[in-house]
Amino acid sequence: MRVDILTLFPSLLLPYFGESILKRALDSKAVEIHVHDIRDYSLDKHKKVDDTPYGGGAGMLMTCQPIFDAIEQLKTFNKGPVIYLTPQGKVFKQAKAASLAKSTNLIFLCGRYEGIDYRVREALVDEEISIGDYVLTGGELAALVVVDAIVRLLPGVLGDEKSIHHDSFSSAFDGKKEHPHYTKPADFRGMKVPDVLLSGNHAAIEKWRKDHLQ
Ligand code: ADE
Repeated sequence: MRVDILTLFPSLLLPYFGESILKRALDSKAVEIHVHDIRDYSLDKHKKVDDTPYGGGAGMLMTCQPIFDAIEQLKTFNKGPVIYLTPQGKVFKQAKAASLAKSTNLIFLCGRYEGIDYRVREALVDEEISIGDYVLTGGELAALVVVDAIVRLLPGVLGDEKSIHHDSFSSAFDGKKEHPHYTKPADFRGMKVPDVLLSGNHAAIEKWRKDHLQ
């Protein structure tokens, strides 16, 4: 999978990709993630990327030119949908993560300020995604959430393939949540791990887990 992310703040995104499972996914080439600074595409001599809204009103809007140039260039080698992160988008769910994980190419556009010129949305954006009914200062956190949820579903990214099927949203558990998990020690300050989990009796353990989904 190839993912391109357009943002005015690449440094907000990059550290997340340098650690843990995302880093492993990149190292193993399960995914390539390219973060682009929209400002680099500005033809303005001061690299301006925003302006005041026609008709008046508070705040600034991201202008067309840098975003059009950036996306048109990206589209020559990334044929995936352009996804704009915005609170007005469709709320992101696990099923959407699963369907996006089947794509080979994705382009994410992170907004800032009061948003982007509507002509970008009309001409270039294929889908709008929100990560929840609240307003963030920009789309970067949302892009991280969406990319993280997609990348962990790519083949080979989680060490144990089973953990995908056994996680909270899998149909394997009929949409129910997880059973409690414990690790060593078996007794922590008098709080004991249920005996059955130490028994080695796999059938009994499976039954206990099914009975304790919450
Ligand atoms: N940008 C600002 N708020 C957002 C949200 N809730 N989801 C996606 N992008 C956003």
